[in-house]
Amino acid sequence: MSTWDKSGWRSKPRIQMPVYSDEAKLNAVEARLASYPPLVFAGEVRNFKRKLGAVSRGEAFLLQGGDCAESFAEFSADSIRDTFKVLLQMAMVLTFGAKVPVIKVGRMAGQMAKPRSAPTETIEGVELPSYRGDIVNGFDFTETARVPDPQRMLQGYTQAAASLNLLRAYSTGGFADIHRVHQWTLGFTNRDDATRYRDIADRLTDALDFMSAAGVTSERSHDLATVDFYTSHEALLLEYEEALTRVDATLGNTIAGSGHMIWIGDRTRQPDGAHVEFCRGVQNPIGLKCGPSMTSGHLKALMAALNPENEPGRLTLITRFGAGSVAEHLPRLVKAVQEEGASVVWSSDPMHGNTIKSSSGYKTRPFDSVLREVQEFFAIHKAEGTVPGGVHFEMTGKDVTECTGGVRAVSDEDLSDRYHTACDPRLNASQSLELAFLVAEELIGLRQTRQAAAS
Ligand code: PEP
Ligand code: CO
Repeated sequence: MSTWDKSGWRSKPRIQMPVYSDEAKLNAVEARLASYPPLVFAGEVRNFKRKLGAVSRGEAFLLQGGDCAESFAEFSADSIRDTFKVLLQMAMVLTFGAKVPVIKVGRMAGQMAKPRSAPTETIEGVELPSYRGDIVNGFDFTETARVPDPQRMLQGYTQAAASLNLLRAYSTGGFADIHRVHQWTLGFTNRDDATRYRDIADRLTDALDFMSAAGVTSERSHDLATVDFYTSHEALLLEYEEALTRVDATLGNTIAGSGHMIWIGDRTRQPDGAHVEFCRGVQNPIGLKCGPSMTSGHLKALMAALNPENEPGRLTLITRFGAGSVAEHLPRLVKAVQEEGASVVWSSDPMHGNTIKSSSGYKTRPFDSVLREVQEFFAIHKAEGTVPGGVHFEMTGKDVTECTGGVRAVSDEDLSDRYHTACDPRLNASQSLELAFLVAEELIGLRQTRQAAAS
């Protein structure tokens, strides 16, 4: 394919991006951002890609999760801590199930621009431009709030930098110690409604007790006290992405400095469009959302554009078809990957194909549909002999009522209690952890099948 530069996307068709009316203001913001330090560094990105290569071979498992849209209003140390905490618990349970390292990735520190299904929104006869995420415009339903303002990119950068700073501190400063993570998890499994998950929790207790007795303690083993944590977001707002792109002094590689992994959304994955053009030239791991309209021809063209060297760990295919539809769509994509001899990570996003409007009028996702899509993802990969590499969730550490179901059942009527999302409904802390236990059961089943086949 042709040569690449970080501005090349500007000559390609773009969709889902704001039109800024004040060009001088936009240029000034871009210049400011271009002078700021990147948020992530090339060496981290390389290590992360190597780990995703291991995921593609089934030697590690990917857990990616966080907000649908990070908002300026909900930004606080508490919300970052709570989401990080649940991700750690989920990762621990999944590690137990998979018996391989779990690579932890937040939809955090940059997930602030949103594609929308309609360009405008109408409430009681008033039509205004849609909300496109806090890095673009405001959530309030007023004419002024909905005007895209480039200045918001600077606030987005500052919020991402502060979030990442805290995440780095939590990852290495003692917060992520495996024994603490386990204690928090016992808080969930000790509840009367979660007895089903006690067996795995007890076995984890035994394993940790045994390790302590054998002298493998957090004091002596750095790996028990710290974690590697990576950030990711949809690379939608390309002015922001371009301005944070940096050339790595060591190897001369070009890196998107906005986060460790960036992904291309299901609506902006046109092979000749602006988003694919930008992403193909940066060296970060790239995610690609694959919805029901993805044909094998599209996928082949996208793999050729995004991973021409077939580098392991470079491309993660995040499938999101909806419960009941995985068998219809996933096999043709698996076949396309096999025909190309491509190395990819297969990850399941069971959120975006399972959004419904509840009887109370809220946008929600039933826990059972979310679980069912993951189970179908595992079943198809089992049948195809391919690796179900990971899961991708919209979740929060807060006790919100946005998705229905789970052991502490949230009903349609409960949705109005604590519905705080700026965009799509998220799993709450209890639902997220419960799902991790259920995915761990799938992983245990998978290992048993493999062992039986090998013996
Ligand atoms: C998202 O991940 O928030 C999203 C918009 O997903 P998709 O592009 O798969 O619809
Ligand atoms: Co979403």
